Amino acid sequence: MPATASLLLLTCLLKYGEVAPTDVNAQLRTCSGRFWHITDLHWDWTYNLTNKPERVCASSGQQPAANAGEFGDYVCDSPWHLINSSVFAMRDILPDPDFIVWTGDSTPHVPNQDLGETEVLSIISNLTDIINQVFPSTKVYSTLGNHDFHPKNQLPATQNHMYDQIAEMWRDWLEPESQQTFKKGGYYSEKLLNRAGFRVLVLNTNLYYDQNNLTKNLDDPASQFSWADQILTNAANNKEKVYIIGHAPPGFFEKKRSKAWFTPKFNNKYLELIQKHHSVIFGQFFSHHHTDSFRMFYNSQDSPISTMFLSPGVSPWKTTLPGVVNGANNPGIRVFEYDTQTLLVKDFVTYYLNLTRANMAQASWEKEYRLTESFRVPDASPASMHQVLERIASSHCYLQKYYKFNSVSYDLTECNSDCRIDHVCAARAVDFHRYEHCLEEEGAASVYGGLLPVVSVALSLVLASC
Ligand SMILES: *[C@@H]1O[C@H](CO)[C@@H](O)[C@H](O)[C@H]1NC(C)=O
Ligand SMILES: *[C@@H]1O[C@H](CO)[C@@H](O)[C@H](O)[C@H]1NC(C)=O
Ligand SMILES: *[C@@H]1O[C@H](CO)[C@@H](O)[C@H](O)[C@H]1NC(C)=O
Ligand SMILES: *[C@@H]1O[C@H](CO)[C@@H](O)[C@H](O)[C@H]1NC(C)=O
Ligand SMILES: *[C@@H]1O[C@H](CO)[C@@H](O)[C@H](O)[C@H]1NC(C)=O
Ligand SMILES: [Zn+2]
Ligand SMILES: [Zn+2]
Repeated sequence: MPATASLLLLTCLLKYGEVAPTDVNAQLRTCSGRFWHITDLHWDWTYNLTNKPERVCASSGQQPAANAGEFGDYVCDSPWHLINSSVFAMRDILPDPDFIVWTGDSTPHVPNQDLGETEVLSIISNLTDIINQVFPSTKVYSTLGNHDFHPKNQLPATQNHMYDQIAEMWRDWLEPESQQTFKKGGYYSEKLLNRAGFRVLVLNTNLYYDQNNLTKNLDDPASQFSWADQILTNAANNKEKVYIIGHAPPGFFEKKRSKAWFTPKFNNKYLELIQKHHSVIFGQFFSHHHTDSFRMFYNSQDSPISTMFLSPGVSPWKTTLPGVVNGANNPGIRVFEYDTQTLLVKDFVTYYLNLTRANMAQASWEKEYRLTESFRVPDASPASMHQVLERIASSHCYLQKYYKFNSVSYDLTECNSDCRIDHVCAARAVDFHRYEHCLEEEGAASVYGGLLPVVSVALSLVLASC
């Protein structure tokens, strides 16, 4: 790893020297790096194409898999064929990423009694193997999801044999010191690609999940907050730039009003951590929703200070969370482009598989969209992502575009005014009180817009194209 990383840096600096100092764009281009984010594969090993639709997969919970094909069905988690296809698509699209971020959730959505520790470990092991086989010399930063434990969601704040065994499976990816902290609490931090000045912080935020009975009464499960605070303080002293990687995000689910994952106490603590240390944090990469969204963090003057990117999942599984209507997605994978000198996130491209089409014909992973093209921003910095959010909030055309991407081009219906409020407030307000306030404010804005049809028609004309 060190050799590859320093070669990368050297190449960047050499090219840097070659371009005229006035050609800033060319300089930025030459210091571009790329990495994959893949997540929520949820392998359902029971998936099989029987002629009884309700028996196709255990993860459908007996809902009929009406369009089951080789690549899966929207009511099922991923068959092996889809997992394999997604990892090989990564190799076809970008075989030599700087690194891979893999943010967990490997097992199917089935009741605890249908899985055991052995099954959970063997599923994680199979997925580890395929990523390792297809990308044998690529560094992988992997984290646990709430489904990567038995019983699910109950990730402990202490050493246990599941953490031990998973640390063992990931030994090629984890530095020795990371192994130690991972075994204690499922988290770790290392220099990014072993380069001085760059760091990753891989968190086990499943410890903050409100369904985790083992941690909800603790103040700082596995001392992760105090550890992260120390790492980030040291990073500031050592002039390091940091990426944070995790599974379950703070804040709210954009497809269900007022649905949060963290307990209020942990949500506050997470926000405080980011607000305190934002100057060294250059990106947060999370998942768990299976949808494509993002979360903005602001300082007390309401300036954007950080963005959490929520990448879509591979599993198309239609969520059974009450209140979510038709919450399936197409399988998605994502490449991030970043500045190897500053760690600024410059762009991302989402690739997806149209599952319906894949089952009818051949699998074909296609580019879904590029952030800067679709939302007309110069990069993916907090200022630009704030601009993206304001476009979505104020223009129906941008809202609709975002909404389609949110389900990875699965749900092509209209995002109505309640839908707009849910998505805008989830992205804008991670803090529970601010979210409530946002709901009120945006709700009032919708009513106001409704009362002034002439104004809103004029506005929508102005903002029509995007
Ligand atoms: C097919 O899936 C069903 C539902 O989970 C399961 O009962 C059955 O055993 C599976 N068949 C095979 C051959 O795996
Ligand atoms: C996985 O995908 C690759 C590339 O398409 C293919 O060659 C291979 O046969 C697949 N393996 C399985 C087990 O499906
Ligand atoms: C999962 O791993 C086991 C043990 O190595 C192996 O026997 C099995 O074939 C793997 N399954 C798949 C689908 O690769
Ligand atoms: C967690 O606690 C709740 C409420 O006490 C209980 O209903 C649930 O069964 C517990 N879950 C586990 C996995 O222990
Ligand atoms: C996916 O494929 C189906 C079947 O060809 C098609 O009807 C649908 O429009 C496609 N979706 C997108 C977003 O292209
Ligand atoms: Zn998941
Ligand atoms: Zn999850």
